[in-house]
Amino acid sequence: MRALVTGAAGFIGSTLVDRLLSEGHQVAGVDNLHSGDAANLDLARGGEAARSGRFTLVRIDIGNPDFVDVVAGFNPDVVFHLAAQVDLRRSVVDPFFDARTNVLGTINVCEASRRAGVRRIVYASSAESWYGAPHHLQEEEEECSSPAPRSPYAAAKLAGEFYLGAYADMYGLTPISLALADVYGPRQDPRGRPGAIAFVGGALADGRPTEAGGDGTAVRDYVYVDDVVDAFVRAGQAPVSLTGSYVIASGRSTTIAEVHRLLAFSPQIPDPSGFAEPFADDPHLPYSDIGRARRDLGWVPVVDLVEGIRRTAQWLRALPEPVSPADPVVGCPVGEEARSAS
Ligand SMILES: NC(=O)c1ccc[n+]([C@@H]2O[C@H](COP(=O)([O-])OP(=O)(O)OC[C@H]3O[C@@H](n4cnc5c(N)ncnc54)[C@H](O)[C@@H]3O)[C@@H](O)[C@H]2O)c1
Repeated sequence: MRALVTGAAGFIGSTLVDRLLSEGHQVAGVDNLHSGDAANLDLARGGEAARSGRFTLVRIDIGNPDFVDVVAGFNPDVVFHLAAQVDLRRSVVDPFFDARTNVLGTINVCEASRRAGVRRIVYASSAESWYGAPHHLQEEEEECSSPAPRSPYAAAKLAGEFYLGAYADMYGLTPISLALADVYGPRQDPRGRPGAIAFVGGALADGRPTEAGGDGTAVRDYVYVDDVVDAFVRAGQAPVSLTGSYVIASGRSTTIAEVHRLLAFSPQIPDPSGFAEPFADDPHLPYSDIGRARRDLGWVPVVDLVEGIRRTAQWLRALPEPVSPADPVVGCPVGEEARSAS
């Protein structure tokens, strides 16, 4: 397949690029390197795929009008759309910045795909946009049918799903949106806080207080990056008749206390120093309705939390530099931040 991956230099995007290349596909990566790291693509750029012309990286903003020509020039079978402003707190402080990439950028991806004759877009949406979905474990959930975004980021991600739906109706595109739970694994930036495991693991590896956890009972659904990438690949290769939204999660709720315990057990990480302040925006909700993805995509998560955390800790430990938090708003409750920003 000819696959165009937006957000190719990011945590999930670069892992998807590596997987697609390992299966022999032709891949064009697109990224403006806003939060991504070109080093994530070292394997792709330094290997046989790049030498034989199977991989190219285009540095461009997805909102740039020229992006349309990039898509047309590559002529992909599938567009995997992962480029996004991913910082929920930034979306609160500057919702316009967030919407420029996450809404307008996504519209440009829709337009570019339509004009290039691409029907299948696989879109990285967020389970955070679907708080209204059932929170308890259900094997055969029918739909994630209750949109309930609670941040500009979640609203923008949902808007992306709705635009894709509109383009499906108007132009016959067959998009698949994957509403991702808390994805974790190697290459996730441990300096911000989009990912609790990377953030807590990075802090522990560095001997800093974790600033996460509160009383340790906050619950999330953590899904390993390789499993998520597997869902993208399956969605990209699914029959063109298949379209809609799917929750991609582990189906298991895990407390932050358990995450600390597992990180502490992993040989690469020293003992945790305990809990400090909770994430004020912690959803405390698991998203477990993965029955549809299993039924329609044949997808099941296979990496359990113990193994996933072991691999993540190994990667964190091998980072050349100590992990210093780069985000000045870390630890600031969303509500306070929103008030001080207004
Ligand atoms: N990591 C998670 O837990 C999680 C959960 C739900 C949804 N998602 C979604 O998955 C996708 C990938 O997330 P990630 O965790 O890999 O984040 P990431 O920040 O590592 O990757 C996002 C990539 O998009 C690029 N990008 C940002 N704005 C861009 C623009 N305007 N033009 C071109 N490129 C741009 C960044 O440079 C980065 O490489 C995002 O769409 C995110 O919303 C992630």
